[in-house]
Amino acid sequence: MNKIGFIGTGNLAASIIKGLKQKKTGYELFMYDVFEEKAKILAKEYGAQSCSFEEVVRESQTLILAVKPKDIKDLLQELSRSNLSGKLIITVAAGIGLTAYEQMLPGVAIVRVMPNTSSAVLQAVSGMSRGQHVDDQQAITAEKIFSAVGKVLWIDDRKINALTAVSGSGPAYFYLFSELMTEVGEKLGLTKEEAGFLARETLVGAGMMLAEDHRSLQELREAVTSPNGTTEAAINTFIEQGLDEIFHKAMLACWRRAEQMEGEYSQ
Ligand SMILES: NC(=O)c1ccc[n+]([C@@H]2O[C@H](COP(=O)([O-])OP(=O)(O)OC[C@H]3O[C@@H](n4cnc5c(N)ncnc54)[C@H](OP(=O)(O)O)[C@@H]3O)[C@@H](O)[C@H]2O)c1
Repeated sequence: MNKIGFIGTGNLAASIIKGLKQKKTGYELFMYDVFEEKAKILAKEYGAQSCSFEEVVRESQTLILAVKPKDIKDLLQELSRSNLSGKLIITVAAGIGLTAYEQMLPGVAIVRVMPNTSSAVLQAVSGMSRGQHVDDQQAITAEKIFSAVGKVLWIDDRKINALTAVSGSGPAYFYLFSELMTEVGEKLGLTKEEAGFLARETLVGAGMMLAEDHRSLQELREAVTSPNGTTEAAINTFIEQGLDEIFHKAMLACWRRAEQMEGEYSQ
């Protein structure tokens, strides 16, 4: 399973290719994009081969579909006319369930992946669901590819929308928190630059603490919350003002939208 082909060479494909090269996985990489120049530039940067649609399908044992969800239907139609025997198809398009792929490509091994934008710095967490025709070797290959851009979690496809509400959309929740911290910091007398710097570095530092200190989230929070102190005053206000309910509603909205997108696609 050493030949990997990319169909679509946008942001996510670029991150995966960067990760595969940095981890020295030794895969031979092929790439195709409707905008030929894009594939060529990426291929040149990473010592890969840019090629035609027919070539990428023929040469690759694993094909990564890295196009936007709106382009998936046409792409699957094209793929359904190709010989995919023995190949693994990996898809990263949001909002399209495994069943839809398996209907369009009967008998084909499909792995669906939901990464997040931290793939750009090789710190993604990717949910992976395994189609019914995927063998163990193919599952290992899929895991190896996405381990090159961060951590992976195999999960039942029916849980992918819940995963989207936590990790797929999750980075934006923390960015929003930091934006709000910046705004309030300014109201408390800091300059925009001072508050922005502090909010950003606080998020980076907290993330690194999580990566290195294996205490639970609650323990880490309690460690900075001394009784009757400043942090406790803030945390109590979050709780009294219903932050838990706001989070519940927001993540439910995310999950519902993902379910709706899947519904729209299968119509
Ligand atoms: N970026 C992330 O971190 C992330 C996280 C989770 C999921 N995803 C999923 O990953 C997929 C790719 O995201 P992205 O951010 O990398 O998108 P992107 O930057 O727009 O890249 C997609 C590329 O594929 C090209 N393309 C479209 N149809 C094609 C076809 N039939 N054959 C070959 N190339 C085709 C597009 O060309 P045009 O621009 O000309 O259309 C574009 O160059 C999306 O489905 C997204 O939902 C991404």
